[in-house]
Amino acid sequence: MRVLSVASECAPLVKTGGLADVAGALPAALKAEGVEMRTMLPGYPAVMAALEGGEVVHEERDLMGGPARVLAGRAGPLDLMVVEAPHLYAREGSIYLGPDGRDWPDNPARFAALSWAAAEVARADWPADVVHCHDWQAGLAPYYLRAGGPPSVLTIHNIAFHGNAAPEEIGPLRLDPSDFTPEGYEFWGRVSALKAGLVWADRLTTVSPTYAAELMRPEFGMGLDGVMRARAGDLTGILNGIDTGVWNPATDPLIERYDSPGGKAPNKVALRRIMGLPDAAGPLCVVVSRLTEQKGFDLLLEALPALLARGGQLALLGSGDPALERAFHAAAEDRNVAVRIGYDEALAHRLIAGGDAILVPSRFEPCGLTQMMGLRYGTVPLVALTGGLADTVIDASPAALAAGAATGIQVHPVAAGPLAHGLGRLCDLWETPAVWAQVQGNAMAAPVGWERSAGAYAGLYAALKT
Ligand code: ADP
Ligand code: GLC
Repeated sequence: MRVLSVASECAPLVKTGGLADVAGALPAALKAEGVEMRTMLPGYPAVMAALEGGEVVHEERDLMGGPARVLAGRAGPLDLMVVEAPHLYAREGSIYLGPDGRDWPDNPARFAALSWAAAEVARADWPADVVHCHDWQAGLAPYYLRAGGPPSVLTIHNIAFHGNAAPEEIGPLRLDPSDFTPEGYEFWGRVSALKAGLVWADRLTTVSPTYAAELMRPEFGMGLDGVMRARAGDLTGILNGIDTGVWNPATDPLIERYDSPGGKAPNKVALRRIMGLPDAAGPLCVVVSRLTEQKGFDLLLEALPALLARGGQLALLGSGDPALERAFHAAAEDRNVAVRIGYDEALAHRLIAGGDAILVPSRFEPCGLTQMMGLRYGTVPLVALTGGLADTVIDASPAALAAGAATGIQVHPVAAGPLAHGLGRLCDLWETPAVWAQVQGNAMAAPVGWERSAGAYAGLYAALKT
C-alpha cells in the first residue's frame, strides 16, 4: 500500500501547530500497518536545507508562475517529495505570513501548486494507491485528481481555514469555471480550496469523533456545515495521537526524567526557577499554545482570579494575537503569573513536565495535542468539553472518581464563569492529595499514542484501494 501524504507543514522540519506533529508522525505510525507513506511538502528554505538525496522525479515548466521540480529524498526518518518552486517557497520568515503579518497574497497559488504537484506525482511518477490530503492547503488535490488518478482522503484539521481566493484566480489556479457553483468549489462568491477538497475527496476524515459530529452543526461548521452534512456518510473521526517517543517523561532529554507522578517535583522546582515564580500552596498551571480566538485564553484571563485566590499559579508560553499577548503581559504583573511570548520547543517540554495542571479552554478544538502531552506527563488537563478535548479527557465527576477512571477536568459551556468554576474544582482535587495522585496516575496511564488510530487510517486506505 503506497500513500502520498500532502501537507503544508511537517515536524520536525517546519511547524506552526499540531498539523505538523500529525503529518510528521503518520509515516512511522502507518509503517507498522504495512503502509509505505511519502510526505509531499513545499520546498521552503528549511525543507530544502534538510533534504538529503533529492532525485528529480517530476518537472513543470510553469507551475503557477515559474518553473518547478519535485525532488524525492529523505530528511531523517521521513521519506519526502519536495516541490522545489523558488518563486513560491524560497522566502524567509513564516511559511504562511509575509513580513507585514498578513497572509502571503499568493497563498492560493502557493498551495494550489502543492496540490497540483501531488496529483501529477501520485498519478504517474510515484504511482500511489491513495493520496492523503491535509487541510485546505492540499484541498485542491482531490479536485485535480477528479479527471483520473488514485482515490483521495482529505483530513480536516481545522475547518476555520478555507484558503479562499478571488474568482479572478479560477483560470490561474487551473480550475474549471463550470464548477464555480454552490455544489462545487464556490463559497459565497469566492473560490474555496477547502470546499473543493470536501466536495471532491473520496473520503473525509477529521481528527476526533466529537469534532466529526460538531462539524455538521452551524456553531462549528464555519459555513461549511451543510457540505459536511451532505457528506456525513463519507466522514470518519479518527483521533490523533502524540509521538510517545518524543513525549515520554522517562526518556525526555529536556527534563529531569521520571516514570511516576512523584518524579515531577524537581521539574516543578526547575520550572519555577526558569519562570521566576515563587513557591505557592496551590497548583502550578501551565499553558503552551497559539494565542488566538479559538483557544479561549481571553476567557482564562477573566477566570484567572479564581485560581490565584486559591494559591494557584500560571506559567504560559504562547504567541499570536498581539492584544492577547499584551493582556498576558499585563496579567504577569501578579507575582504568581509568569508569561513567555514566543515559540520554544524546549521550554514547552519543561512546562509540561513541571506543571501540575495544563489548561486548554478552547472554544473549539478539532483534536488538541497538548492535553495529551499533559496526560502523559501526569500534568492534569483542565479542558473545554469540545472536539478532541472531549474525547481524550475523563472528567473527575464523582462517578469517574469512584470508578478510578478520572484523568482531568472538563468545563462546559466554554465561558469565563464555568472556567472559574472548573479552576475551583481543580483546586479542590489538589487539596485532597490522595485523589490528586489517583487522577495523575490515571492520566499517565491513559492511551495517547498512535496505535489505535494508525489501524483506522490503514483500514480506510484499504477500503479505497482500487
Ligand atoms: P493547534 O494545532 O491548534 O495549534 P495542537 O494542540 O494540535 O493545537 O498543537 C499545537 C502544537 O504546537 C503542540 O505540539 C504544541 O506543543 C506546540 N506549540 C504551540 N505553541 C507553542 C509554543 N509557543 N512553543 C512551543 N510549542 C508550541
Ligand atoms: C489543528 C487543530 C488542532 C489539532 C491539529 C492536528 O491545528 O486546531 O486541534 O490537534 O490540527 O490535527
